[in-house]
Formats: sequence, C-alpha cells, structure tokens
Amino acid sequence: MAVITFANTKGGAGKTTAALLLTTELLHRNYRVCVIDADPQRWFSKWYESAALMPRLSVETYVSAPTLQRIVHERRSQWDFVIVDLPGIQSPLLASAVGLSDHVLIPIQGSSMDAQGGAQVLDLLRYLDRKAGIRIPHSVVLSRVNPAITTRSMQAVQRLLHEQQISVLDTPIAERAAFREMFDLNRPLRKLESAQTGSGEKAIANAQAFVNDVMSVVTPGAAQPPAYSATRGAPVLETAA
Ligand SMILES: Nc1ncnc2c1ncn2[C@@H]1O[C@H](COP(=O)(O)OP(=O)(O)O)[C@@H](O)[C@H]1O
Ligand SMILES: [Mg+2]
Repeated sequence: MAVITFANTKGGAGKTTAALLLTTELLHRNYRVCVIDADPQRWFSKWYESAALMPRLSVETYVSAPTLQRIVHERRSQWDFVIVDLPGIQSPLLASAVGLSDHVLIPIQGSSMDAQGGAQVLDLLRYLDRKAGIRIPHSVVLSRVNPAITTRSMQAVQRLLHEQQISVLDTPIAERAAFREMFDLNRPLRKLESAQTGSGEKAIANAQAFVNDVMSVVTPGAAQPPAYSATRGAPVLETAA
C-alpha cells in the first residue's frame, strides 16, 4: 500500500539501520512488509538470510534499475508496506525509486555537519517538483545522534533544515549499541538479549517513536492497518512542518 524509500547518496548515514528498525517495528505491529534491497552490497539481504524466519516479511534482493519499477508495482498491491533501501552512492536507482515512493526518508547524521549526501537527494526532489511538477513527500530523519546530549551541531542541522522548510521527523535515531547488534547478531531489536536491559528498552522506545513519526507522515489512507492487527501503533506524534 505505501512505498517508503530510504535515500542518502552517502554510505554510513544510517539508511539500512533505519530501514531495519522501521521494518521490524512494523512487523511487530502485525503489518506485512516487503523490503526491496537495491544496494549491491546487500546489507539488508544478508541480515535477512541469517535471521530466523519471519512470517509477514519478504526481502527482494539483487534489485537493479531495470527491475525496480516492475517489482515495486507488483509488490505494492500485495503488501502493507514496501520499503526500498538504496545504495550509498549516486545511482540511477535514486531517481527511479523516489518516483515510485509515497514517502522518501532521508537519514542525515545529526552529529556531523556532513549532510551532503542528504542534500543531493533533497536537490533531486526539488528539481522534480520545479521542472516536472512531481511532488514527492519526504522527510529528513536525524540519525546516529548521541542520546546523552543534544549537541550544538545537531541543533544547528535541525535549525538549518527548518529554515529551508524541510520536514524533519521529531524523533532522531540515536547512536546505540543495540542498533549495531541487530546486524552483528542477525536479530530484530526486540529479540536481542540486551532488549531487557535499560539501554535496550531505550533503544526500543526510540525505534517506536521513530516509527510513530513515520506513520504520521506517510500519506493518510495509503497504509491501512491490517484487519487482523492485534497491536495497533501507539498514538501518532506531531511532526515538524
Ligand atoms: N543509530 C545507530 N546506532 C549505532 N550504529 C549505527 C546507527 N546507524 C548506523 N550505525 C552503524 O553505522 C554503519 C553504517 O550504517 P548503515 O545503516 O549501514 O548506513 P547506510 O545504509 O546509510 O550506509 C553500520 O555499521 C551501522 O551498524
Ligand atoms: Mg545501507
């Protein structure tokens, strides 16, 4: 129903981590999710191949520019959410994927001012709007933010984005060991042994708040809750304009 793409032409921005957090939280809420791994490095696919079987999750791997459009079109009618994870380089996949998306999420590292990869995505979205009248809803998500302190540089990035009228999700994704562990141990966040610890609980709360934000910006009506849903999402949070 809803197609969400994670885009930033820079590697290490936190795209795959954010995509995995969104995916596993949506599964936890009983949605059916199809992930399209368009990164030739296949980080998401490798995680999936080594993780325990998860009903309601499917991962399409080795997806390239010529096959992306067909796969997205086929999958969007069959799944509650289609999540596209793009490579951290400039590639023809970027324009194709954003053009097929209901919402584009752009993770930008809040702790560093290095927002260039995100700026390239924002430029493309602006260009599509100006030249072709194609408006693709999008939001920046600040990623890898030090949870202990709200750094000045993060506040500066936030201010800059607000000044440029770029929508920023309220919830930044914190830099947390648990988010790395998901990949090291090939498990969803809630299945980590550390999930029961204080820092594990904070990581889960962070992921939940991030997903609530995503749900509130994805085109209303695009993603209907499944009829069999036992655990609906928590209340929707306001997002920055
Ligand atoms: N919020 C986070 N907390 C801890 N580690 C993170 C976080 N986001 C990303 N990382 C780590 O940084 C590296 C790059 O992240 P990744 O999500 O693969 O970025 P991208 O997909 O944009 O290249 C990985 O080793 C990942 O585990
Ligand atoms: Mg990645």
